[in-house]
Amino acid sequence: MSGLRVTVLISGNGSNLQALIDARTKGRLPIQIVRVISNQEDAFGLQRAEEAGIPTRVIDHTRYASRSEFDTVLASKILEDRPDLVVLAGFMRIIGSEVLEPLQGCMINLHPSLLPLYRGTNTYQRALDAGDSEHGASIHFVSEVLDGGPVVAQARIPILDSDDAETLAARLGPVEHRLLVATVEFLASHDVAWRDDTIQVDGIPQTKPLQLQTDGSLG
Ligand code: GRF
Repeated sequence: MSGLRVTVLISGNGSNLQALIDARTKGRLPIQIVRVISNQEDAFGLQRAEEAGIPTRVIDHTRYASRSEFDTVLASKILEDRPDLVVLAGFMRIIGSEVLEPLQGCMINLHPSLLPLYRGTNTYQRALDAGDSEHGASIHFVSEVLDGGPVVAQARIPILDSDDAETLAARLGPVEHRLLVATVEFLASHDVAWRDDTIQVDGIPQTKPLQLQTDGSLG
C-alpha cells in the first residue's frame, strides 16, 4: 500500500514504530514508511524496521562536533526520502532549526503527557506528585520549543490510587500506540495544518486537541 510517505525517527525500543508497521500491514494505514532513522545504532526499533523490510539509517549524534552539524546531516538525510510526514516516536534529541525550517508543519512528536502539562521527562512521576486524576499522551507539531508545538491529538487514562510511575507508564503504552496510529490515519485522510499557533482541520480552526475515542478513531 502506498499513500503518505512517512519517515519515523527513533532512539530505542520502537514499540510505537511497531504499532504503525502493524496497522499498515493490517491495511488500516494508507502510508508507506520510507525510512526509519535512529541516532542510536543499537536501537531495537531498527531491527523491527528491518524485519518489516523498511530501509534504515543510523545517524550517530556522538560523531558530530556540534548539535548544528548533526542537525544539518539529519535534515539532509530526511529530505532525501521526500517524506510527507516525519514522526518522532521516542526520538531522544532536541530538534534544531536546521531540521525544523524545511519540515515545520509536517513533523509530529509523541509525548507521554497531557500537554501543555509536563513537557520534558519523568512525566508519570510528575503527574502522580501533582495528585492529578488523569494522565495521557499528546501528539503535537514539532516547534523550536521542547514539547511545545500545537497539539493535534490526545488520549487520556485515569490515574488509579494504586498507580506508581511504572504501572502508569505500562498502562499508557498501548494507549500511545492507538493514539499514534489514529493520528497518522487522520493526517493521511484530512488536511491538518498549523496556522498561527492553532490547528486547522480541513480549513476549520480547532479550539482543543482531537481526542482518541474508544473505537480507536479521533473525534
Ligand atoms: C514513548 O513513551 C513516547 O511517548 C516517548 O518515548 C517513548 C517511546 O517508546 N516519546 P518506543 O520507543 O516507541 O517503545
